[in-house]
Amino acid sequence: MTSRTSRDVLRRGLSVLGRAIREQPRIFAVAVSGSVLFGGLVIASAYVVGAVVGDVVVPAIARGSVGVAALALAAGALFGISVLRVVGIFGRRLGAGYMQFRLQAAYRRQVTRRYLDLPLSWHQRNATGTLLSNANSDVEAAWYPIAPLPFAVGTVVMLVGAIASLFVTDWALALVGLAVFPALFALNVVYSRRMAPRQARAQRLRAEVSGIAHESFDGALVVKTMGREAQETARFAARAGELRDALISVGRLRGVFDPMLETLPSLGTLAVLVVGAFRLRQGAISVTDLVSVAFLFTVLAFPVRAIGWVLAELPRSVAGWDRVRRVLDATGEMPYGDVTLDPADPTPATLAFADVGFAYEPAEAHLPGAEVLGEVTFTVPAGKTVALVGPTGSGKSTIAALAVRLVDPHTGTVSLDGVDVRRLTAASLAGTAALVAQVPFVFDDTVRANIALDRPGVTDDDVWAALRLAEADGFVAALPEGLDTMVGERGTSLSGGQRQRLTLARALAGRPRLLVLDDATSAVDPRVEAAILAGLRAPAAGGPAASILVVAYRRATIALADEVIYLEQGRVVARGLHAELLATVSGYADLVTAYEQAEADGEQPRPYDEVAPLTSGLEVEVDR
Ligand SMILES: Nc1ncnc2c1ncn2[C@@H]1O[C@H](COP(=O)(O)OP(=O)(O)OP(=O)(O)O)[C@@H](O)[C@H]1O
Ligand SMILES: [Mg+2]
Repeated sequence: MTSRTSRDVLRRGLSVLGRAIREQPRIFAVAVSGSVLFGGLVIASAYVVGAVVGDVVVPAIARGSVGVAALALAAGALFGISVLRVVGIFGRRLGAGYMQFRLQAAYRRQVTRRYLDLPLSWHQRNATGTLLSNANSDVEAAWYPIAPLPFAVGTVVMLVGAIASLFVTDWALALVGLAVFPALFALNVVYSRRMAPRQARAQRLRAEVSGIAHESFDGALVVKTMGREAQETARFAARAGELRDALISVGRLRGVFDPMLETLPSLGTLAVLVVGAFRLRQGAISVTDLVSVAFLFTVLAFPVRAIGWVLAELPRSVAGWDRVRRVLDATGEMPYGDVTLDPADPTPATLAFADVGFAYEPAEAHLPGAEVLGEVTFTVPAGKTVALVGPTGSGKSTIAALAVRLVDPHTGTVSLDGVDVRRLTAASLAGTAALVAQVPFVFDDTVRANIALDRPGVTDDDVWAALRLAEADGFVAALPEGLDTMVGERGTSLSGGQRQRLTLARALAGRPRLLVLDDATSAVDPRVEAAILAGLRAPAAGGPAASILVVAYRRATIALADEVIYLEQGRVVARGLHAELLATVSGYADLVTAYEQAEADGEQPRPYDEVAPLTSGLEVEVDR
């Protein structure tokens, strides 16, 4: 670390501390008061000890007898000081703890809140692991120096007080203090500067070691079946070795500096005794003064370390804060409009794409984003079903995301009932359109909670009705505790098809007026898939009054649609009835036939968890 960057870290670190103080001024005042009380009493105790030695012990030795009254007074004074010191320590520790943990909680909340406000494009650029460490260890690191901060501030006040009291006692002793205390302080600064990069390296390696371990446990199946145990172990061992070396280098530095930090005050005490003895002979000071000052030097050594602790934590704090900042300052959230659609409207909604173009943001800012959709125009009329068909990567999931406004188009408009979706309120969007994503997401909760999602007015009857429509009532009824069955993290206790039907039921329970199904029944067998779609299209039979946009592959499913849109490379190349397209569009016929052939051969051509997840890890419903 060059001195320029370390000065920069100091400046930015102090500004982080300043922010903490501005946010929790009262608690900080309590903690610093405790610390200053403690500091004042440390100085006072030195002078009381000096007085006890000079005015009680020395005369007693000279007389050969102890004055009981004087002894009692001295004991009382020392006891009083100890009690007050306890109060000081208590106030400081309590204040510092409150302040640190309150700030942590507040910023964890802010960061996670921000995650939910940021758009899908932001989430696609940021790994889940990073988000977790932002909300957890980065927030912690940012507020780490808060714990020793009040102690350090109190110590600075105490040092100033100590030097002032030295000058009152004797200028010669004060000069010794002026030499020793700043030297002690400087030694702490050098120590923490040397320590900071080593600590940072160790911290980074700790994260990497646990990352590797996590990955190999997580991928245990791959590691075992591919016979990669030895390589994985070696990879882990190499990084663990680096961590060991980093920690040893931390220990070595500590081994060099700790004894110096211990010795310096002792040298100071020695200097005080030499200079003091000289001044005593000159008659400039008393025994009381000499003992007080010598004692002061020994008791000050420890608190000075607190300043070093704060300085040592600053680089980590700045690094953590920068990463927290990056989340809090991230932009791109999509503001909602103020147009509302009647939530109780029982009629299906009309979805229209007009000349829609879209490009994903490039991985690196200087690269151009490749166009994914261009000039896409189509309508899903109220109550109709439109099937979206196209080869993999042609933009079907992107259209689904646009339809429920997970992303906004770069050109053209997407509208619901004639209103640009950007002008709708969040509640109107969530209440009108529901997406069932390609990759189902199930919460680690009960079946009921997964479907109702705490939405007001969703009763058990509604849940069962939704399950019936999703052809999921049978297996849920057979679960040991029915709706109360816990489904495990990400629904691990369910089969792929069961998970898909659960997420479909979740969308249906909100009574959407537009249902967007992105390959939502790929893991369900074809007969059930067709039955589900047929049920959804029959409001009379209890189906929802919803228009449906469905990404589909199977002939039986597509054949139920009122219109088929055939997509290639982000462009609509044909539209019409299934039978017409089959006869006239060769690409379409090839795709549908190839799919059918693959299924007939017993392959699972589209295992849902192998496809690129557009919305993985995100709630499938537009529920914001
Ligand atoms: N997050 C992303 N960042 C960059 N490019 C993306 C992203 N998601 C998708 N793409 C690209 O956009 C194009 C369309 O993707 P999309 O997921 O819409 O295809 P799809 O038709 O749904 O494919 P599939 O049938 O495999 O699900 C693809 O070329 C894909 O590589
Ligand atoms: Mg897709």
